[in-house]
Amino acid sequence: VSPQPLAGLNAAGAVAFRAARQFLPPLLSDWLRFRFSEFTFAGTAWPRPPSGGGWEHESIVEAQVRHWPLLKRNLEDAGPLGVSHLPGHDGRADVSDHNIIMSYAYALARALSGRRTLSVLDWGGGLGHYLLYSRALFPGVDFQYHCLDLPAMCAAGRRLQPDACFHDDARELVGLKLDLVISSSSLHYFEDWRGTLRDIAAMVGGWLYLSRLQCVEQAPAFVAVQRPRSAGYGTSYPSWFLNRRGVLAAALAEGLALEREFLFDERWYVRRAPEQGRSRGFLFRKP
Ligand SMILES: C[S@@+](CC[C@H](N)C(=O)[O-])C[C@H]1O[C@@H](n2cnc3c(N)ncnc32)[C@H](O)[C@@H]1O
Repeated sequence: VSPQPLAGLNAAGAVAFRAARQFLPPLLSDWLRFRFSEFTFAGTAWPRPPSGGGWEHESIVEAQVRHWPLLKRNLEDAGPLGVSHLPGHDGRADVSDHNIIMSYAYALARALSGRRTLSVLDWGGGLGHYLLYSRALFPGVDFQYHCLDLPAMCAAGRRLQPDACFHDDARELVGLKLDLVISSSSLHYFEDWRGTLRDIAAMVGGWLYLSRLQCVEQAPAFVAVQRPRSAGYGTSYPSWFLNRRGVLAAALAEGLALEREFLFDERWYVRRAPEQGRSRGFLFRKP
């Protein structure tokens, strides 16, 4: 079951709720997650920047850096990969997180296709945890890993992973062609998501893995504001819930061919929204 947190719960409360949920009837558990969701519907236009700093709020980097040693430990041996970079996901047995990582393993295997080196760009890649996942999944491969994120996140990422390349300005990436570009739960944080997808697509040398995308099926794209207290982030930020067909059409227009679609068990309930979100992924190939 996915880790959809409850609004108003701090990180410890969210951990307790996740543990207690296995004893709750599914209907009650879903209703609680809907009723107390961290997301609030905000209309069909991007709102003004949030006052709390949005993704630049210092608590986000702090919480992820604090969680980093545990994430590394959870990836060390041959145990299950039900792990996450998200603070509060302390174990390695979360089935939803396991699905996220094994879906990535599929995308990586398609991109590798037996090769021993792979260049990767992780767009909105945080501290670069997908590099840790990549090495745990394919230990013999040499990954040339680039990560684009905000300046404070990149600075922390450089300290933790000196052998990765962190970029806090997308202009540094212009002209690069990467074997695999990943955008996991990040495209929906860009106001001009179509323009961002165009920029990303221009850097795809082979494969694009759009993962953990906030999607709806029927409704037109809309915006929600999230207050991510359960992860220990003391801020709020807007994000799109994108229409699935709209995403596929935009990707097709950039010359990308869909190779596989993925489903994730992250229930992103949005209070007052015309449709509830679903976490989807898409593996595209550039012919
Ligand atoms: C939900 S996290 C996803 C992290 C990771 N890709 C994953 O799925 O596990 C979103 C990431 O996008 C980054 N981000 C948000 N807005 C950004 C921007 N304008 N430029 C670069 N990165 C941004 C955040 O700092 C954060 O690391």
